[in-house]
Amino acid sequence: MDRPSLEAVNRLADAARAADGVAPLSEATLLSLAAPSADGQLHGYVEGESGLDAYSHLRLEDDGTAWAEIVVHPQARRRGLGTRFLEFVRDQNPAVRVWAHGDLPPARAFAAHHGMRRVRDLWVMSRAVDTDPAITDPVAPQGFSARSFRPGDEQAWLDVNGRAFAHHPEQGRMTLADLQARMAESWFDPAGLLLVFEKGTGRLAASHWTKIAEPTSGVGEVYVVGVDPDFQGRGLGGYATALGLAHLRDRGMREIELYVEGDNEPAIATYRRKGFERSARDVMYAFEQ
Ligand SMILES: CC(C)(COP(=O)(O)OP(=O)(O)OC[C@H]1O[C@@H](n2cnc3c(N)ncnc32)[C@H](O)[C@@H]1OP(=O)(O)O)[C@@H](O)C(=O)NCCC(=O)NCCS
Repeated sequence: MDRPSLEAVNRLADAARAADGVAPLSEATLLSLAAPSADGQLHGYVEGESGLDAYSHLRLEDDGTAWAEIVVHPQARRRGLGTRFLEFVRDQNPAVRVWAHGDLPPARAFAAHHGMRRVRDLWVMSRAVDTDPAITDPVAPQGFSARSFRPGDEQAWLDVNGRAFAHHPEQGRMTLADLQARMAESWFDPAGLLLVFEKGTGRLAASHWTKIAEPTSGVGEVYVVGVDPDFQGRGLGGYATALGLAHLRDRGMREIELYVEGDNEPAIATYRRKGFERSARDVMYAFEQ
Protein backbone atom coordinates (compact mmCIF):
# COMPACT_ATOMS: atom_id res chain seq x y z
CA MET A 1 0.00 0.00 0.00
CA ASP A 2 0.99 3.56 -0.69
CA ARG A 3 2.55 5.35 2.28
CA PRO A 4 3.86 8.81 3.11
CA SER A 5 7.53 9.64 3.54
CA LEU A 6 9.19 9.38 6.94
CA GLU A 7 10.08 13.09 6.65
CA ALA A 8 6.45 14.10 6.16
CA VAL A 9 5.29 11.97 9.10
CA ASN A 10 8.09 13.36 11.27
CA ARG A 11 6.97 16.93 10.47
CA LEU A 12 3.40 16.08 11.46
CA ALA A 13 4.58 14.31 14.63
CA ASP A 14 6.78 17.31 15.54
CA ALA A 15 3.82 19.69 15.16
CA ALA A 16 1.69 17.45 17.40
CA ARG A 17 4.48 17.19 19.96
CA ALA A 18 4.90 20.96 20.03
CA ALA A 19 1.16 21.39 20.69
CA ASP A 20 0.58 18.46 23.05
CA GLY A 21 3.96 18.11 24.78
CA VAL A 22 4.05 14.40 23.91
CA ALA A 23 5.31 12.55 20.82
CA PRO A 24 2.26 10.90 19.20
CA LEU A 25 3.99 7.98 17.45
CA SER A 26 6.08 5.11 18.77
CA GLU A 27 9.54 4.07 17.71
CA ALA A 28 8.08 0.94 16.05
CA THR A 29 5.88 3.06 13.78
CA LEU A 30 8.69 5.39 12.73
CA LEU A 31 10.97 2.39 12.09
CA SER A 32 8.29 0.83 9.88
CA LEU A 33 8.30 3.96 7.70
CA ALA A 34 12.08 3.79 7.37
CA ALA A 35 12.02 0.07 6.43
CA PRO A 36 10.81 -1.54 3.19
CA SER A 37 7.02 -2.04 3.06
CA ALA A 38 5.96 -5.04 5.13
CA ASP A 39 2.87 -7.25 5.17
CA GLY A 40 0.29 -6.48 7.82
CA GLN A 41 1.17 -2.78 8.08
CA LEU A 42 -1.25 -0.22 6.73
CA HIS A 43 -0.49 3.48 6.55
CA GLY A 44 -3.34 5.94 6.13
CA TYR A 45 -2.81 9.65 5.48
CA VAL A 46 -4.42 12.85 4.28
CA GLU A 47 -2.39 15.66 2.75
CA GLY A 48 -3.18 19.27 3.57
CA GLU A 49 -1.86 22.52 2.14
CA SER A 50 1.49 22.41 3.90
CA GLY A 51 2.14 18.77 4.66
CA LEU A 52 0.17 15.95 6.21
CA ASP A 53 -3.08 16.78 8.04
CA ALA A 54 -3.39 13.31 9.56
CA TYR A 55 -1.67 9.94 9.63
CA SER A 56 -2.55 6.52 10.97
CA HIS A 57 -0.48 3.39 11.27
CA LEU A 58 -2.12 0.00 11.70
CA ARG A 59 -0.23 -3.18 12.49
CA LEU A 60 -2.05 -6.48 11.97
CA GLU A 61 -0.26 -9.23 13.89
CA ASP A 62 -0.21 -12.90 12.84
CA ASP A 63 -2.19 -13.91 15.94
CA GLY A 64 -5.20 -11.79 14.94
CA THR A 65 -4.49 -8.85 17.24
CA ALA A 66 -4.01 -5.37 15.85
CA TRP A 67 -2.86 -2.01 17.14
CA ALA A 68 -2.89 1.47 15.70
CA GLU A 69 -1.68 5.01 16.21
CA ILE A 70 -3.56 8.03 14.90
CA VAL A 71 -2.38 11.62 14.83
CA VAL A 72 -4.14 14.69 13.49
CA HIS A 73 -2.26 17.96 12.89
CA PRO A 74 -3.15 20.49 15.63
CA GLN A 75 -4.55 22.84 12.97
CA ALA A 76 -6.72 20.14 11.42
CA ARG A 77 -8.40 18.85 14.59
CA ARG A 78 -12.14 18.74 15.35
CA ARG A 79 -13.01 18.29 11.69
CA GLY A 80 -13.68 14.59 11.89
CA LEU A 81 -10.31 13.40 10.55
CA GLY A 82 -9.52 11.41 13.70
CA THR A 83 -12.93 9.74 13.43
CA ARG A 84 -12.31 8.90 9.77
CA PHE A 85 -9.02 7.18 10.55
CA LEU A 86 -10.45 5.41 13.56
CA GLU A 87 -13.24 3.99 11.39
CA PHE A 88 -10.66 2.92 8.82
CA VAL A 89 -8.57 0.95 11.32
CA ARG A 90 -11.68 -0.51 12.95
CA ASP A 91 -12.92 -1.73 9.56
CA GLN A 92 -9.65 -3.66 9.13
CA ASN A 93 -9.93 -5.31 12.55
CA PRO A 94 -12.77 -4.60 15.03
CA ALA A 95 -10.56 -5.70 17.96
CA VAL A 96 -7.97 -3.03 17.10
CA ARG A 97 -6.28 -1.32 20.04
CA VAL A 98 -5.32 2.33 19.72
CA TRP A 99 -2.43 3.97 21.55
CA ALA A 100 -2.84 7.36 23.20
CA HIS A 101 0.61 8.56 24.22
CA GLY A 102 0.61 10.82 27.26
CA ASP A 103 -3.00 10.03 28.28
CA LEU A 104 -4.02 13.54 27.17
CA PRO A 105 -7.52 15.06 27.57
CA PRO A 106 -8.25 15.30 23.78
CA ALA A 107 -7.52 11.60 23.32
CA ARG A 108 -9.64 10.76 26.38
CA ALA A 109 -12.55 12.78 25.03
CA PHE A 110 -12.10 11.28 21.58
CA ALA A 111 -12.04 7.73 23.00
CA ALA A 112 -15.10 8.39 25.17
CA HIS A 113 -16.94 9.86 22.18
CA HIS A 114 -16.33 6.61 20.30
CA GLY A 115 -17.24 4.33 23.22
CA MET A 116 -13.71 2.97 23.65
CA ARG A 117 -12.39 1.78 27.00
CA ARG A 118 -8.89 1.71 28.48
CA VAL A 119 -7.38 -1.76 28.18
CA ARG A 120 -3.71 -1.18 28.85
CA ASP A 121 -1.72 1.29 30.86
CA LEU A 122 1.98 1.81 30.12
CA TRP A 123 3.92 3.92 32.60
CA VAL A 124 6.90 6.14 31.96
CA MET A 125 9.04 6.23 35.11
CA SER A 126 12.04 8.52 35.53
CA ARG A 127 14.70 9.66 37.96
CA ALA A 128 17.49 12.23 38.05
CA VAL A 129 20.98 10.72 37.98
CA ASP A 130 22.15 12.78 40.95
CA THR A 131 19.26 11.89 43.25
CA ASP A 132 19.05 9.23 45.98
CA PRO A 133 19.58 6.30 45.95
CA ALA A 134 22.99 7.00 44.40
CA ILE A 135 23.93 5.12 41.24
CA THR A 136 26.95 3.02 42.14
CA ASP A 137 29.05 0.47 40.25
CA PRO A 138 27.44 -2.90 40.97
CA VAL A 139 29.27 -6.10 41.91
CA ALA A 140 28.41 -9.19 39.83
CA PRO A 141 26.57 -11.96 41.69
CA GLN A 142 28.85 -14.95 42.24
CA GLY A 143 29.21 -17.13 39.16
CA PHE A 144 28.38 -14.37 36.67
CA SER A 145 30.32 -11.78 34.71
CA ALA A 146 29.34 -8.93 32.43
CA ARG A 147 30.57 -7.40 29.21
CA SER A 148 29.03 -5.35 26.43
CA PHE A 149 27.59 -6.65 23.15
CA ARG A 150 29.82 -7.98 20.37
CA PRO A 151 28.81 -9.02 16.84
CA GLY A 152 27.81 -12.68 17.06
CA ASP A 153 25.77 -12.19 20.26
CA GLU A 154 22.56 -11.53 18.29
CA GLN A 155 20.96 -14.98 18.48
CA ALA A 156 21.76 -15.52 22.16
CA TRP A 157 20.19 -12.13 22.94
CA LEU A 158 17.08 -12.91 20.86
CA ASP A 159 16.66 -16.29 22.60
CA VAL A 160 16.85 -14.79 26.08
CA ASN A 161 14.61 -11.87 25.07
CA GLY A 162 11.98 -14.24 23.63
CA ARG A 163 11.93 -16.35 26.79
CA ALA A 164 12.04 -13.43 29.21
CA PHE A 165 9.17 -11.66 27.40
CA ALA A 166 7.18 -14.71 26.28
CA HIS A 167 3.94 -13.09 27.50
CA HIS A 168 4.68 -9.52 26.46
CA PRO A 169 2.60 -8.32 23.50
CA GLU A 170 5.46 -6.60 21.64
CA GLN A 171 8.84 -7.23 23.19
CA GLY A 172 8.67 -11.03 23.11
CA ARG A 173 8.05 -11.03 19.36
CA MET A 174 11.29 -9.35 18.39
CA THR A 175 12.89 -11.04 15.37
CA LEU A 176 16.43 -10.88 14.00
CA ALA A 177 15.20 -8.33 11.42
CA ASP A 178 13.68 -6.18 14.21
CA LEU A 179 16.93 -6.38 16.16
CA GLN A 180 19.03 -5.50 13.11
CA ALA A 181 16.76 -2.53 12.32
CA ARG A 182 17.39 -1.13 15.81
CA MET A 183 21.11 -1.82 15.56
CA ALA A 184 21.21 0.12 12.29
CA GLU A 185 19.78 3.23 14.00
CA SER A 186 22.21 6.07 14.66
CA TRP A 187 21.64 5.84 18.42
CA PHE A 188 22.73 2.20 18.67
CA ASP A 189 25.88 1.77 20.73
CA PRO A 190 27.16 -1.77 21.44
CA ALA A 191 28.78 -0.47 24.65
CA GLY A 192 25.28 0.34 25.94
CA LEU A 193 23.95 -3.20 25.42
CA LEU A 194 25.20 -4.94 28.55
CA LEU A 195 25.21 -8.73 28.77
CA VAL A 196 25.52 -10.94 31.86
CA PHE A 197 26.93 -14.45 31.31
CA GLU A 198 27.09 -17.51 33.52
CA LYS A 199 30.75 -18.29 34.14
CA GLY A 200 31.79 -21.77 33.05
CA THR A 201 28.92 -22.45 30.63
CA GLY A 202 29.20 -19.05 28.95
CA ARG A 203 25.39 -18.95 28.73
CA LEU A 204 23.75 -15.56 28.40
CA ALA A 205 21.61 -15.12 31.52
CA ALA A 206 20.48 -11.49 31.48
CA SER A 207 20.90 -8.24 29.62
CA HIS A 208 20.28 -4.53 29.89
CA TRP A 209 19.98 -2.54 26.69
CA THR A 210 20.32 1.18 27.33
CA LYS A 211 19.42 3.86 24.83
CA ILE A 212 20.57 7.43 24.38
CA ALA A 213 18.35 8.80 21.62
CA GLU A 214 19.81 12.33 21.67
CA PRO A 215 23.04 12.73 23.67
CA THR A 216 22.53 16.50 23.99
CA SER A 217 19.18 16.00 25.73
CA GLY A 218 20.93 14.46 28.74
CA VAL A 219 18.17 11.84 28.91
CA GLY A 220 19.03 8.14 28.76
CA GLU A 221 16.64 5.22 28.73
CA VAL A 222 16.44 1.82 30.33
CA TYR A 223 15.43 0.33 26.97
CA VAL A 224 15.06 -3.41 27.74
CA VAL A 225 16.04 -5.37 30.83
CA GLY A 226 15.53 -9.13 30.51
CA VAL A 227 16.51 -12.13 32.63
CA ASP A 228 16.28 -15.66 31.23
CA PRO A 229 13.57 -17.51 33.24
CA ASP A 230 16.18 -20.23 34.00
CA PHE A 231 18.18 -17.63 35.91
CA GLN A 232 15.43 -15.61 37.55
CA GLY A 233 15.41 -15.18 41.33
CA ARG A 234 19.20 -14.82 41.68
CA GLY A 235 19.49 -11.06 41.77
CA LEU A 236 20.42 -10.72 38.09
CA GLY A 237 17.56 -8.30 37.30
CA GLY A 238 18.80 -5.84 39.92
CA TYR A 239 22.40 -6.34 38.84
CA ALA A 240 21.67 -5.83 35.13
CA THR A 241 19.55 -2.76 35.90
CA ALA A 242 22.33 -1.26 38.04
CA LEU A 243 24.93 -1.94 35.32
CA GLY A 244 22.90 0.05 32.81
CA LEU A 245 22.24 2.92 35.22
CA ALA A 246 25.99 3.20 35.90
CA HIS A 247 26.65 3.17 32.13
CA LEU A 248 24.16 6.00 31.52
CA ARG A 249 25.67 7.99 34.41
CA ASP A 250 29.17 7.49 32.95
CA ARG A 251 27.89 8.75 29.59
CA GLY A 252 26.95 12.03 31.27
CA MET A 253 23.17 11.58 31.32
CA ARG A 254 21.30 13.72 33.86
CA GLU A 255 17.94 11.95 33.67
CA ILE A 256 17.00 8.30 33.15
CA GLU A 257 13.60 7.05 32.06
CA LEU A 258 11.93 3.74 31.32
CA TYR A 259 8.62 2.21 30.26
CA VAL A 260 6.83 -0.41 32.34
CA GLU A 261 3.36 -1.97 32.24
CA GLY A 262 1.12 -0.25 34.79
CA ASP A 263 0.04 -3.61 36.22
CA ASN A 264 3.56 -5.01 36.59
CA GLU A 265 3.74 -4.45 40.32
CA PRO A 266 7.02 -6.35 40.97
CA ALA A 267 8.85 -4.34 38.28
CA ILE A 268 7.35 -1.04 39.48
CA ALA A 269 8.40 -1.84 43.06
CA THR A 270 11.95 -2.66 41.85
CA TYR A 271 12.23 0.59 39.92
CA ARG A 272 10.80 2.60 42.84
CA ARG A 273 13.54 1.16 45.06
CA LYS A 274 16.01 2.39 42.45
CA GLY A 275 14.64 5.93 42.71
CA PHE A 276 12.20 5.98 39.77
CA GLU A 277 8.76 7.62 39.98
CA ARG A 278 5.97 7.72 37.42
CA SER A 279 6.32 10.77 35.17
CA ALA A 280 3.82 10.01 32.37
CA ARG A 281 1.62 7.26 31.02
CA ASP A 282 0.48 5.88 27.67
CA VAL A 283 -2.94 4.28 27.39
CA MET A 284 -4.29 1.73 24.94
CA TYR A 285 -7.97 1.93 24.03
CA ALA A 286 -10.23 -0.72 22.52
CA PHE A 287 -13.85 -0.79 21.41
CA GLU A 288 -16.36 -2.49 23.67
CA GLN A 289 -16.92 -5.87 21.99
C1 LIG B 1 -7.19 12.51 19.50
C2 LIG B 1 -7.14 13.05 18.06
C3 LIG B 1 -6.67 11.91 17.12
C4 LIG B 1 -8.56 13.50 17.65
O1 LIG B 1 -8.55 13.88 16.27
P1 LIG B 1 -9.66 14.87 15.68
O2 LIG B 1 -9.55 14.84 14.21
O3 LIG B 1 -9.58 16.19 16.34
O4 LIG B 1 -11.01 14.13 16.16
P2 LIG B 1 -12.51 14.33 15.57
O5 LIG B 1 -12.64 15.64 14.90
O6 LIG B 1 -12.82 13.12 14.74
O7 LIG B 1 -13.33 14.30 16.95
C5 LIG B 1 -14.42 13.40 17.20
C6 LIG B 1 -15.00 13.71 18.56
O8 LIG B 1 -14.05 13.39 19.60
C7 LIG B 1 -14.21 14.34 20.68
N1 LIG B 1 -12.99 15.17 20.80
C8 LIG B 1 -11.90 15.15 20.00
N2 LIG B 1 -10.98 16.04 20.43
C9 LIG B 1 -11.49 16.65 21.51
C10 LIG B 1 -11.03 17.66 22.40
N3 LIG B 1 -9.82 18.25 22.23
N4 LIG B 1 -11.82 18.03 23.42
C11 LIG B 1 -13.03 17.48 23.61
N5 LIG B 1 -13.56 16.53 22.78
C12 LIG B 1 -12.78 16.11 21.77
C13 LIG B 1 -15.40 15.22 20.31
O9 LIG B 1 -16.55 14.57 20.83
C14 LIG B 1 -15.37 15.15 18.80
O10 LIG B 1 -16.61 15.41 18.20
P3 LIG B 1 -17.07 16.97 17.97
O11 LIG B 1 -15.90 17.69 17.37
O12 LIG B 1 -18.24 16.84 17.05
O13 LIG B 1 -17.41 17.50 19.33
C15 LIG B 1 -6.19 14.28 17.96
O14 LIG B 1 -6.49 15.19 19.02
C16 LIG B 1 -4.72 13.93 18.04
O15 LIG B 1 -4.08 13.74 17.01
N6 LIG B 1 -4.16 13.88 19.26
C17 LIG B 1 -2.75 13.48 19.45
C18 LIG B 1 -2.55 11.99 19.12
C19 LIG B 1 -3.42 11.08 19.99
O16 LIG B 1 -3.61 11.28 21.18
N7 LIG B 1 -3.91 9.99 19.37
C20 LIG B 1 -4.64 8.95 20.11
C21 LIG B 1 -6.06 8.80 19.71
S1 LIG B 1 -6.88 7.60 20.77
